[in-house]
Amino acid sequence: MTDIHCHILDGVDDGAYCLSDSVEMARIASESGTRSIVATPHANAPGMPENAWDDAFTQKLAALNAALIKEHIPVTVYSGQEIFCAGGVLPRLRSGALITLNASRYILIEFDFLARSEAMMDQCEELIAAGYVPVIAHPERYEALKEDEHTGYLLKKMGCLLQLNKGSLFGAFGRGAQNTAHGFLSGGLADIIASDAHSPYMRTPFMSDAHEMVSEFYSLDYAELLFRENPGLLIENKDIEVIY
Ligand SMILES: [Fe+2]
Repeated sequence: MTDIHCHILDGVDDGAYCLSDSVEMARIASESGTRSIVATPHANAPGMPENAWDDAFTQKLAALNAALIKEHIPVTVYSGQEIFCAGGVLPRLRSGALITLNASRYILIEFDFLARSEAMMDQCEELIAAGYVPVIAHPERYEALKEDEHTGYLLKKMGCLLQLNKGSLFGAFGRGAQNTAHGFLSGGLADIIASDAHSPYMRTPFMSDAHEMVSEFYSLDYAELLFRENPGLLIENKDIEVIY
């Protein structure tokens, strides 16, 4: 499996605290069948370090991959960010301070949980016009989409992808997010499920329980699409068929 949303880089946000946490997260991921992880530290988020991508991040990523080889953990970690979308993103993407997922056309974005649908769509439109494919992190957690799942359909129609959090399927973010996540799944609107893991203790990158749930309640083919095929295409910068 490929996990495209994971706060596995240590000491840069509210994710892994130290390198041994990062290694342990990769171990947990590997034990549940994950072989590729995109490191997505929060970037551009209000109240947090700006986390402009620089040499220090590149070195941190290299140190983590070296540690995984040393520990014989069969996981490769790729570069990425979870970019808070509130205007001013495009110039920072162009300068290299903000980056896409594994240098692809796919960009992982998040919004304020209270953002209005129109504001989300305006931001996505700007990114799409510039040639990016917005991958919306945990759409099921935004109030506007909980209130009206049709907004998810409209975002898809524009060319966005929807990435659900595995924890949402089990109710980790409340009943509203859980219902909305399953609404997207039953409506065929979900494109990718990722861990959005923050530590080896809580919100972990263990994914096989969620894969089993989707296989059991929906279908094995759908689970394979969401956990393996689509995220695998994404990190190779290949086309993903948008279904809506
Ligand atoms: Fe996240």
